[in-house]
Amino acid sequence: MDLLRKKDLSTLINGSYASPLKKDLKTFDLTMLGIGAIIGTGIFVLTGTGALTAGPGLMISFVIAAVACLFASLCYAEFASLVPVAGSAYTYSYTSIGEIVAFIIGWDLMLEYLLSATTVSVGWSGYFQSFLEGFGINIPTVLTAAPGSLAHGVTSYFNLPATVIILLITLLISLGVKETKRVNNIMVIIKVAVVLLFIVVAVRFVKPSNWTPLMPFGTSGVFAAASSVFFAFIGFDAISSSAEETVNPSKSLPRAMFLALGICTILYVIVTAIMTGVVHYSMFASYIDRPVSAVLKLSGQNWMAGIVDLGAILGMTTVMLVMLYGQTRITYSMSRDGLMPKIFSKVNPKTDTPFVATWLFGCIAAVLAGSIPLSELAELVNIGTLSAFVLVAFSVMRLRKTKPDVKRVFRTPWVPFVPIMAMASCLFLIFNLNHLTWLRFVVWLIIGMFVYFGYSRKHSKVGIDEMTKDAYDVKNDINKKL
Ligand code: ALA
Repeated sequence: MDLLRKKDLSTLINGSYASPLKKDLKTFDLTMLGIGAIIGTGIFVLTGTGALTAGPGLMISFVIAAVACLFASLCYAEFASLVPVAGSAYTYSYTSIGEIVAFIIGWDLMLEYLLSATTVSVGWSGYFQSFLEGFGINIPTVLTAAPGSLAHGVTSYFNLPATVIILLITLLISLGVKETKRVNNIMVIIKVAVVLLFIVVAVRFVKPSNWTPLMPFGTSGVFAAASSVFFAFIGFDAISSSAEETVNPSKSLPRAMFLALGICTILYVIVTAIMTGVVHYSMFASYIDRPVSAVLKLSGQNWMAGIVDLGAILGMTTVMLVMLYGQTRITYSMSRDGLMPKIFSKVNPKTDTPFVATWLFGCIAAVLAGSIPLSELAELVNIGTLSAFVLVAFSVMRLRKTKPDVKRVFRTPWVPFVPIMAMASCLFLIFNLNHLTWLRFVVWLIIGMFVYFGYSRKHSKVGIDEMTKDAYDVKNDINKKL
């Protein structure tokens, strides 16, 4: 049983040029797409718990997570410039390691994209409700959160705002990539402007004494926070999933990835330094779900806090947009290869998008968003993504050995040092996650194996092609013998 059968690299590269998806994206759009996916819940919500775990050392946690992402992105970029097709890490590993590993990565990425969109929608819902409250509008409590997620004694049955926002985004994505791009670009500009505004306004209130001690919980607190705020960087990899819709993917993809990652790292470190400098880190315990705007409120800048709320709402909207978009593109690729049912790669001729898949996953995400308290699931997203990064780094090294002569527009520097560092830093972050997260991840992988052996293996195009070839060879042999 050949579990490591591979996709042919040259067929893949040539095939991408005949893609039915519309090519409409350039470096700027991809960078915007990346920032759209990166800045969101990680900075607007998770910094609260992060500060309580690491103290002012949270800024170091962000640097550690960024370093892991930088190594991973250097590996991603080589692949993205080599195999410019939809499906990112999944497709890369199909050519270099083999089918079962590719399936596992695809399965991990589905977890990453789908659950991060749902996790973010829950955070979005919280900010949106408080924004409405500012205008005196209150949504009935029973429709504000998933069952069991409110404080003791308060009942809610469904998170209506989270569900509605996911459905609206699904509508947008299903209408076409051009429309998606336009809305995304506008919202990203507003989001970055709001973050910059926060920096300019809040920096005046920094009291350097709040930064000492820098690491009140030691290095272990800083490392644990790094593993959880890693979520804040997730998304740069989503850029590579739009390779088939990019005008010049070999150049634009790596450039956009570095730009987006660099810009976000700088913003994050400055924002966390200011947050923990203005307010003593222990204060975040009372403002766990809106820490950034709380900093402004505590400094008497109520009006500005409202603007930050609005920025967070828009910021998180773009994250959901890119994540759901990435989700449909991953399943599109897996389905095209026969590893997922055909319906997921059916492109609607009017919109040039995988319409059915978009709606199917949009609806699944919407139901999950409304009915499951997802706060801890951010860690599950992290472990899925980190595992995919480890496999990508490994694939880069492997492909250098097996296919040394293929033209690489972008080459990962210092191989094998960089891929090894990427694997080591991602594994380090995985080990700092809690055991329950590992367990949930293993359950997800076991379900994946049922899907693979129950469906994907039998329907795999690579497998079917090999079988046809074998049958042909056998027939030729028989003819020769006769
Ligand atoms: N990086 C994204 C966020 O922080 C997933 O919301």
